[in-house]
Amino acid sequence: MVQTFGCQMNEHDSERLAGMLEADGYEPISDQTQADVIVLNTCCIRENADNKLYGALGNMKQLKDDNPDLQIMVGGCLAQKDRELIQQRAGHVDVVFGTHNVHRATALMADARRDGPITEIWTAADTDDPFPSALPARRQTDYAAWLTIQIGCDNSCAFCIVPAVRGAEISRPPEDIVSEARRLAAAGVTEITLLGQNVNSYGRDLAVAVRRSGGTGIRVRPAFADLLLAVGGVEGIRRVRFTSPHPKDMNTEVYQVMAGTPSVMPHLHFPLQSGSDNVLKAMHRGYTAARYLAKLSEARETIPDLAVTTDIIVGFPGETGEDFERTLEVAAHAEFDSAFTFVYSPRPGTEAADLTDRFCDPAEVKDRYSRLRTVIERSALQRHRAREGRVEEVVVEGPSKTDALRLTGRTGQNKLVHFPKPEGPLRPGSYATVRILEGRTQYLLGELVEVTARASHRTRLVVL
Ligand code: SAH
Ligand code: SF4
Ligand code: F3S
Repeated sequence: MVQTFGCQMNEHDSERLAGMLEADGYEPISDQTQADVIVLNTCCIRENADNKLYGALGNMKQLKDDNPDLQIMVGGCLAQKDRELIQQRAGHVDVVFGTHNVHRATALMADARRDGPITEIWTAADTDDPFPSALPARRQTDYAAWLTIQIGCDNSCAFCIVPAVRGAEISRPPEDIVSEARRLAAAGVTEITLLGQNVNSYGRDLAVAVRRSGGTGIRVRPAFADLLLAVGGVEGIRRVRFTSPHPKDMNTEVYQVMAGTPSVMPHLHFPLQSGSDNVLKAMHRGYTAARYLAKLSEARETIPDLAVTTDIIVGFPGETGEDFERTLEVAAHAEFDSAFTFVYSPRPGTEAADLTDRFCDPAEVKDRYSRLRTVIERSALQRHRAREGRVEEVVVEGPSKTDALRLTGRTGQNKLVHFPKPEGPLRPGSYATVRILEGRTQYLLGELVEVTARASHRTRLVVL
C-alpha cells in the first residue's frame, strides 16, 4: 500500500512506486493490517506534515510487531530532509529513500530484507535521469495523467523548504515532454497536467546549457508558452492544465497561448501568498501587490472566462494588522474562485524560521485566518452563482462521494459539478455537457445535457 502526503509531485511519484510494486507482483490494498509493504511518500512543507508522519509511523510499530514480514518504507520530501533521523526515531522502518532515487525503491526493499534497515538519499547529481518516465506507473485514473516538466526550485521564498529538499531547478528537454504526451494520448489519456514548482520559468537552465555550449540560436530558451502549445496540440489530448506558475515569471505569451489553444483549460493557479508589499518583500516573492493585480487583469482580459485560484499564507513573521488588511483587500479585489489558505509554519533551515522575535500571536493569526476565509468564500460563491444557467463540458470523474445517485464531473475551469446519474453507464473519463443549476461555495450542481464522448472499459475514448 502506498500512502501519499503533500503535493502533485508526490502523487505522481506514488503512481510510479505503485507501478514498480505491481511490476514485482504486489497488488494494491487499502487495509494496512493486511499489507506486506507500506510505503509512505512524505511531505515537509508545514510542521504538521512532519508530525503526521511520525504519528503514522508510531502507529505502525504494532503492525510490524504483529507481522514481522511487513516492510515499511519512507520516501518523499521529509525523507530527503530528515534522512537517518527517520530510522533513529522509528527503528522499525526498513527503507528510507529520497526524491531523486524513487526508481531504487523496490531494489532497496530487497536489499533491506537481506541486510537490514537502509537509508539511501541521492541528490540530483547522483542520477543520470531526473525524469524517470520509463518507470511503470499505476495511474490514479486512466484518462488523466501528470507530466513532470521540471523538478526543483531556484527561488528562495523565505518561508519555503522546497528548494532545500528538492534542489535546483532542472527542466526536462521539450522533445521528451512532447513524446511522453504522445505516449499518454496513445494509452487513452485525454487530460494532462504539466507539473513543476515554477512551471512558467521552465527552460531557464536549458538556455544556460545552450549558451555554454556555444549555441547562438535566436530563441535559445524553450519557453513555457511553446511547451503549452506543443502539448496542447498533441492529438487525443482534450485538456491541458499546469501547476504551479509563479506570478513574477508570468508573461503575455502564456496568456495568449492559453487564450488561443482550445485544449489549454481556462484555469490559472496564481499563488499570491500575501497582499502586503512589506510582507511580499520579506518573503522574496519578486512582485508587489499592484504588479500581481496588473498581471491578473491582463490574464483575465486575454483569456475568456478564466477561473483563478491562489495560495495565501497568514501570519508570516512580522505581518502586522495593517499588512493583513492589505491581503484582505487584494483577495477581495482579485475575486478568486477558491484559495488554499495556510497558517505560516516555521520550517527549520529557512530564512523566516529564524525570525522568532517577529512571530505573530497565534490567537491573532487564527482570527485573521477566519476573516480571510470569509473573503475567499464570498467571491467563490459569487463566481459560482454567476455560472448558473451556463452549459459546460465536464469530464466525468465517477459517482459523487456523498450521493450515490449523482455523478461528479470537472469543468474546464477545474470546478466540480454534481449531477443526477443518467440511466445506463457513463464511465469515468467520458465527456458530457451539463447545465449549471446552482452554484455553491465549493462546487456546482447541474443536470446532464448530452454525452459528448464516451469512455469505454479501458477509457479509450470514442468520440461521438
Ligand atoms: N512552488 C509553488 C508552491 C509550492 S508549496 C509556488 O511557488 O507557488 C505550496 C504552498 O504552500 C505555497 O504556495 C505556500 O502558500 C504554502 N507554504 C509553503 N511553505 C509554507 C510554510 N512554511 N508555512 C505555510 N505555508 C507554506
Ligand atoms: Fe517554495 Fe517559492 Fe520555490 Fe514555490 S517558488 S517552491 S514557494 S521557494
Ligand atoms: Fe510537500 Fe515536497 Fe510537495 S515538501 S508540497 S511534497 S515538493
